[in-house]
Amino acid sequence: MKSRLLCFLVLVVVLFLTPVSHSQRPRDVEQRVNALLAQMTLEEKLGQLQQLDGEGNGDFRPEHLDLIRKGLLGSTINVRGAQRTNQVQRVAVNESRLKIPVLFGFDVIHGYRTIFPIPLAEASSWDPLLAERSAAVSAQEANNAGVRWTFAPMVDIARDPRWGRITEGAGEDPFLGAAFARARVRGFQGDDYGAADRVLACAKHWVAYGAAEGGRDYNTTDVSENTLREIYFPPFKAAVDAGVGTLMSSFNSLNGVPASANPFTLTKVLRQEWKFDGFVVSDYTSVRELINHGVAANEEEAAALALNAGIDMEMVSRSFNQFGPQLLKQNKLTTATIDEAVRRILRIKFRLGLFDKPLTDETREPGSLLRPESIRLAREIAGRSMVLLKNDRDALPLNKNIGSIAVIGPLADDRRAPLGWWAGDGKPEDTVTPLAGIKQKVSAQTKVGYAKGCEVTGDSTAGVQEAVDLAKASDVAIVFVGEIADMVGEGASRASLDLPGPQMKLVQAIQATGKPTVVVLVNGRPLSIGWIVDNVPAILESWMGGSQSGNAIADILFGDVNPGAKLPVSFPRTVGQIPIYYNHLNTGRPPDPSNRYNSKYSDIPSTPLFPFGYGLSYTTFKISNLQLSAPQINVNGKLTVSVEVENMGRRAGDEVVQLYIRDPVASMARPVKELKGFQRVSLQPGAKKRVEFVLASEQLGFWNRELRYVVEPGEFRVMVGANSVDVLDAKFEVK
Ligand code: NOJ
Repeated sequence: MKSRLLCFLVLVVVLFLTPVSHSQRPRDVEQRVNALLAQMTLEEKLGQLQQLDGEGNGDFRPEHLDLIRKGLLGSTINVRGAQRTNQVQRVAVNESRLKIPVLFGFDVIHGYRTIFPIPLAEASSWDPLLAERSAAVSAQEANNAGVRWTFAPMVDIARDPRWGRITEGAGEDPFLGAAFARARVRGFQGDDYGAADRVLACAKHWVAYGAAEGGRDYNTTDVSENTLREIYFPPFKAAVDAGVGTLMSSFNSLNGVPASANPFTLTKVLRQEWKFDGFVVSDYTSVRELINHGVAANEEEAAALALNAGIDMEMVSRSFNQFGPQLLKQNKLTTATIDEAVRRILRIKFRLGLFDKPLTDETREPGSLLRPESIRLAREIAGRSMVLLKNDRDALPLNKNIGSIAVIGPLADDRRAPLGWWAGDGKPEDTVTPLAGIKQKVSAQTKVGYAKGCEVTGDSTAGVQEAVDLAKASDVAIVFVGEIADMVGEGASRASLDLPGPQMKLVQAIQATGKPTVVVLVNGRPLSIGWIVDNVPAILESWMGGSQSGNAIADILFGDVNPGAKLPVSFPRTVGQIPIYYNHLNTGRPPDPSNRYNSKYSDIPSTPLFPFGYGLSYTTFKISNLQLSAPQINVNGKLTVSVEVENMGRRAGDEVVQLYIRDPVASMARPVKELKGFQRVSLQPGAKKRVEFVLASEQLGFWNRELRYVVEPGEFRVMVGANSVDVLDAKFEVK
């Protein structure tokens, strides 16, 4: 009896001491939120809904301290550094009436100090676990620098490479996008975003921001509800299911209703359908911008629209604070609406453990940045994210003992471009450029010459001759061309997808020397590089590969890493093909070059330059023997689809096996292909493996005309291959 009692007591103690997810027990959190809310004045409540920007260098503004002291500021953006955030936080927790801690947010998109490849590049790895690992490192660095909230992941589907922010997402496909959304949320937040090495994540931009007309940033979007639910929503749903704590509303108007005032997306879908219980922050001044959109006459109306639609926190503009009280008096806003927004924000602050541990341990920050293992990971991920686009007659890899190399181009020794548009607190001085990476890689005897050739911008070709001379005097020329960081990201839409400035002239001049030439692209979006594809034997898409970009490029060029990445987005031949994406509908007149009256252009082929899912390796793979576990399944059934993958070459390598489906006859027109599975497999030379996918019938459905998700019985096609074009094909039936 006694021993039983002892066991019981031990159990109670253990249970009491065992940490639970989110640092705080859910019921305790709700009680604490409500208790605090009950003590708050209206001004203090509105204060929690306000987020303000810091100084450009990461510092706070003096005004922040005054506001925080009065309980009028809940969150900041861009304020970072353990010391600085602590200085601000001490004011909140020591000098304000209710001692509510401040939430420090920052755009930690693909790295805090150690910069990883841009998200589009990471998606090219088709290995979500890598994105999870890079997000975890970013979270650890950011947290130690006092940042508790990142405005990432960006999970916008983008079918238009003119849009500069395509660089920040996972490309054009909802299935791949959902996998990366999930992975990034897990990486940032872990099981508990209150843990000392994690941060709160923010899925953005809710929603359809990537569908901006003409690819022009901030532009209007017009997207049917079916397409929203099938293409634009899934990565957000995946993020919510993975427990993301916050979302950010987007700048665009969606079917005439701006996203920051859209009750359908903010409340009906997010709260009612998906049961999201975190909070939504508006994008930068997007509440005030409701005036420009033409749905609010003034900031007062903007505040009412945004709050009533479901925005909880206002970034930078101040209309909630300024006009909240009078909107209440005029019954244009209810206390319940304000309370709910405050509750959502406080809930997250409690879950973050901010009330119990508001300060950051300042001693840990220096040692947490650029750790050797973080740098190693950045190099590994970059190597696994670069896509070999062309490699005629095994031009690559190069021999490390080669006599001489001409390293050419404006991006060969640029430290800024590889960091991409959002570079957190990344520093150009930490970047390994391609020139540095190559120099470290080759033998002591190899002569490495460098000529910039031209700039990325402007039109001067004055440096081209020097580059040509260098190429002529070398055994091989490697030309680094593409985009600088400013050409991608927010507000950086381009009407042309050509190589900017005089760079194409440089490539042409080098190719004309007759020397073996390799082009390495450093860029943040698909480019139309048809001439290069037609004329240069080897092309590597290195994207913007982060701090370790140059090492990773050298690893690939010299064969220490065998490229295995695949494009997460189609490359158009020319900008005039946009939008071009693999999961399009068939039309009544699918393209047929021999028939005038078909859906095509008369001046170019209708296919992309490189299709979705495409990428080469230094070895070759054979995918064969497609098998299905059954010829038919019922509406709730599952099917196993498998293929054999064999490494036919002499090097170990990776193949990304991709599974697509098609519903050929349905009550609504369905895409010609939809990705439903993928696996990146590594195989030794000569090795063979059966790769299996489980296809559940619920993956076969769509949103029908009544906007219900249905799986319609009938025949389905399943296709498996190495990209979205080269596939094996089989059929099965859903009963
Ligand atoms: C505007 C961008 O659209 C958004 O992605 C970012 O998080 C905020 N600015 C804050 O920097």
